[in-house]
This record gives sequence, C-alpha cells and structure tokens, in this order.
Amino acid sequence: MCGIIGYTGKKNSVEVLIEGLKRMEYRGYDSSGIAILNDNNEIVTIKKKGEIQKLINAINDRKYPSHTGIAHTRWATHGEPNDINAHPHSDCKNEISIVHNGIVENFKSLKDYLLSKGHKFVSETDTEIIVHLIEEFAEDNDLLTAVKKALKKIKGTYGLLVISKKLPNTIIAARMGSPLVIGKSDKQMIIASDASAIISHTNQVLYLEEGEIAEITVNDINISNIFSNHITDPKFIEIDMTLEQIEKGGYEHFMLKEIYEQPESIRNTIRGRLDKTNGTIRLNGIKKYINDLKDADRIIITACGTSWHAALLGKYLIENFANIPVEVDYASEFRYRNPIVRKNTVVIAISQSGETADTIAAIYEAKRKNAIVLGICNVIGSTIARITDAGIYMHAGPEIGVASTKAFTSQVTVLLLLAILLGRKHHMSFDEGLHLIKELEKIPDKINEILNSRKYIQKLSKQLYKHTNFLYLGRGFNYPVALEGALKLKEISYIHAEGYPAAEMKHGPIALIDDNMPALVIALKDSIYEKIITNIKEIKARKGHVISIATKGDKEIGSMLKDVIYIPDTFEPMAPLLSIIPLQMISYEIAVLRKLDVDKPRNLAKSVTVE
Ligand code: F6R
Repeated sequence: MCGIIGYTGKKNSVEVLIEGLKRMEYRGYDSSGIAILNDNNEIVTIKKKGEIQKLINAINDRKYPSHTGIAHTRWATHGEPNDINAHPHSDCKNEISIVHNGIVENFKSLKDYLLSKGHKFVSETDTEIIVHLIEEFAEDNDLLTAVKKALKKIKGTYGLLVISKKLPNTIIAARMGSPLVIGKSDKQMIIASDASAIISHTNQVLYLEEGEIAEITVNDINISNIFSNHITDPKFIEIDMTLEQIEKGGYEHFMLKEIYEQPESIRNTIRGRLDKTNGTIRLNGIKKYINDLKDADRIIITACGTSWHAALLGKYLIENFANIPVEVDYASEFRYRNPIVRKNTVVIAISQSGETADTIAAIYEAKRKNAIVLGICNVIGSTIARITDAGIYMHAGPEIGVASTKAFTSQVTVLLLLAILLGRKHHMSFDEGLHLIKELEKIPDKINEILNSRKYIQKLSKQLYKHTNFLYLGRGFNYPVALEGALKLKEISYIHAEGYPAAEMKHGPIALIDDNMPALVIALKDSIYEKIITNIKEIKARKGHVISIATKGDKEIGSMLKDVIYIPDTFEPMAPLLSIIPLQMISYEIAVLRKLDVDKPRNLAKSVTVE
C-alpha cells in the first residue's frame, strides 16, 4: 500500500527511482511521482495520475541529471488520485520534499495549526502537513532535528523519506508502522518500502526499526530513535532474494507465474521440516513455545483476506489433528472488540506481507492482554515477523501478483505442518504422522498434474466469463476453499461471487439459483461426498449450471455433470492444497478474457498498511 524509494549515489537517480517504482507498483498504482535534486541543487518534482508509465512518459520529454531523489507510487487514502494529490509533496518554498507511506490521523488539527502560521496547502492529502511541519521546525534547526520534531507531533503511521536543497546528497528516512529497508553498495544508498526495489543493486540491507530515523549519505548512515535520540549502530545483513524471483520469467502475469510456482513454493515450505524418523514435524522457529501451544486451552488465529481463509483451514486442521479448540478472528474485528485472551490462550497471526495494519494492531492488542503471539509470515524481516514472539516462515518466495495464490497454499501447508506436530504431541500415532508426511511430499506433483489441465480450464472459462454472479460451494475442509475461490474471482474479475458451505445453500442462497448463476462446487470423494452430491442435485433441479471440482476417476459425477475438473485424490485434510488450484486458474482465465489487469486489480494494493 504505497511504495516509496529514495536514492543517493553515483548513478542517475531518476533511472534508479523509476526502476524501483516499477518493482513496487504492486503496492499501489493510482498515481506516482518523483522529486530530485538537480545539478543546480533545485528540487524538481514530476507527478502523474495513473500507472507509472505515465510518469515515465512525462520524464522522458526532459533530461534530469541528478544523483539524489525520492519517489512514490500511491494507493489513495486522503484525496482522490490525481496529479496534485500524488506524492512527493513540498513545503511553501519548494526547499524540502517528502514521500510518505502511512496515515496521519491527527492531520486536521495539525493543518489548522499550520494554516494559522501562514502555510499554503495545495493538495487534499494528510501527507502534505508533514512537510509543512518540517518547514515550520526547520526555521531554527538542522533538518534532522526538524524532522524529529515534526514526527513527534504526528499520530499515525509513516515510512517517510525527506530531501532538502539545504542538505544536498542526503536523505532522511523515518519509520513508524510502515516498513523501510536500506540497501548499501559501492558509493550508493537506496531506501525503499521493500527489498524488491533494492535487490538489483545490492543484497546488503538494513531494516529500519520502529521509531528510528536515519540520516543517509553515499558513504554514511546515522541512525537514532526519534523519541529518545538513542543512537544505534547500523547493521547490514545479506538477504536471500534473487532478481529472477521478482521478475515474470516469461509468464504473461505475475499471478500466472505464481500459480505455476506452487509445486516449488510448497516444496520450499516443507523443506527441512519433515522428520520421518519420528513421524513428526520440525518447526525450529517456534520450538520455545511448542508446549504452550500443546497445552493451550484455546488458540486464536487472526488474519485478513486470503490469509483469513487459510486461518479458517488452520482451525479445521488443528482441531482435527490435535483436538485443541481454535477460534478464527478477522484482525480488524479482534483489535476492536475486546477479545477474551486467557492465561493459556496462544494467538497466531498469519500474513503474507507481514505488514498488514489490521493484523499488526491485533497482535499489539493480544500482547497487551499478555498472550504469546506467534507469526506465520512470508516476507522475511517484515514487521509481523519482528513483533511476534516467534514464528514460522512460509518460504513461498516473493509474491508480486496482488491476488494471493502461492502464499495461500504455503500458509495452508504451514498450518498442516503445525497441526501434525501438535497432533503428534497429543494422541496422533507415529504411523499416522508418517502417513501424512509421505502424502504431503506428493502434493507438489499432484499440483503439477492439475496445472496441466490449463487448456480445459480455458475452454470452461470461455463459457463462464460473461456471467455476473457466481456461487462457490464446498463442505468441511473445502468450505474455506470455496470462500477463497470466490474472493479470487471478485478481486481480479470484478464479478460478484459468494462462497458458502454447500449445505447452507438451502437456508437462503438457493433462491438465487437459475440458469444465469453458475455454481462451482467442490465435490471430492471424501467423507461427505454423498451429502454434497445431494446439494448438486438440489441446484440442478432448479436449472442451475454446476461446474464441479471432482476426484479423478469419479464416474458418478461425470455422468451427472457436463463440466467437471478432475483433480488427483489425496487425504481429506490435504485436499484444499489441490482443490484451490483450478479455482485460482479459472479466476485468472476469466480476468484475462474480460481484458482486465490481472496483476493490478482496481482499488486494491498488495499490502494493506492502513486500517
Ligand atoms: C487477496 C489478498 C488479500 C490479503 C490480505 C492480507 O488475494 O491478497 O486478501 O490476503 O490483504 O494480506 P497479508 O496476508 O499480507 O496480511
């Protein structure tokens, strides 16, 4: 949700900033802008509504020699997307410029104060007050002190970059609630919201901590705390991310690439964690807390969106294997409803990005209630990975497509691993543990088999893409999959879709069924197969069009329905790792047929860093 980048160094800053913005476009794409210190030490700002290409076109007309600058790609909160509201924002004299990822909650009162002091505002954004506050305090202070003073007045969140013509070749970076990573290489420093914008230049990075501010020049970096002034030694680490991982690699879209990466991403999630000798799972990250989990009266899993769907599956898995009660809470609800957290409650937060504002707030609330909080994250070093007591990394690799795919299957895999481990600590036998582990190892090949049915799924999607309403139905372990399938269709195809537990349909939604309402029904040969066949018959009796995800070799369903996508058989609790794949593929194909921007669906952004 908004990507910011700053550069100071030997290269032309414009080129580095634009390349970085393109890599972070998935974080927000309604407008973008750049501010550079040119060779005459003036601040030049260019901003454009729309995708980054529009900014590039505007810049291409002119030449801008510069070695220091900042840039921003926006997901609007305050003020509609237009050229003026786009960042960077400047002070009254155009001597200071900033880019900001976050929210200023008390912007109204601060704006009134600044207006009374004679400051002139041009945009409707909350961000603009920050630069005027800095201007106000810069009168008698050096820039670093002025930025600190300004930030102390702000309630809200920020990843902030500041340049000033009075401090050439310097960038000030500050962080509170929105991530910032600093990359260092030979005679250059790059600061960005995420490492994907840095990795083509260096893999030596430093994650700024909450409340820290850094004064950065080509050769030096000074870090201190905004509030206590405490000085920290800069410690750079090497990150394990490659350029190849964050490029499309010949695929038309990141989403398609990530769907196809799932056999590999799941292999990476389970690598080194299967302990066949003991028929159990090794999760070293949470070793210290495993007995707290085992003896928990209750586990609460909290998350948002797709991660919440994985959490729901986590409930089914942990309750099934380990007999521990699990509650699943939307992070945005958990944080505001005074949740009951007892002495033996353990909270697990799930987040691909590790930066989702609601999930972060839920974690802080759980901590205020003294809960042990564990994280399941994909992005290494992300906020959630750092503020939780311990955690399990998903190792799915960078997910760039805004619609989450491989992160979901890796989250479910992690939850499966955790459920087996807790099961083994309770009543699960060695044989059962080993049996599950061996089947889990086969899942990547089974996914590959499903991916090979793309032609059939494309054909099916051609029949479906003009419809405007869909039902997704599943039962048991496949109910969360139905929810996730419906979300995928909504977010990238803009088609109304509802996920339901199949049996609930007769309590209301069945009234919607007619020949214009396709129903995607997950009907696998499992313990509730007969029940879901009855649900399919109920739809067919009302002339509904049923498309089914069924188990390979199921002749009964083949004789009932024309449109069936067969998937390989597996154990019932692992079936979601397979049944979600055709649903992801259908959403993708339908969005392509509707000529939509699959990787950048309207109104969305990859990591939602605002409430
Ligand atoms: C849907 C999607 C979102 C995210 C949600 C939580 O495809 O990507 O629903 O799952 O915003 O994000 P994370 O997992 O980063 O906390």
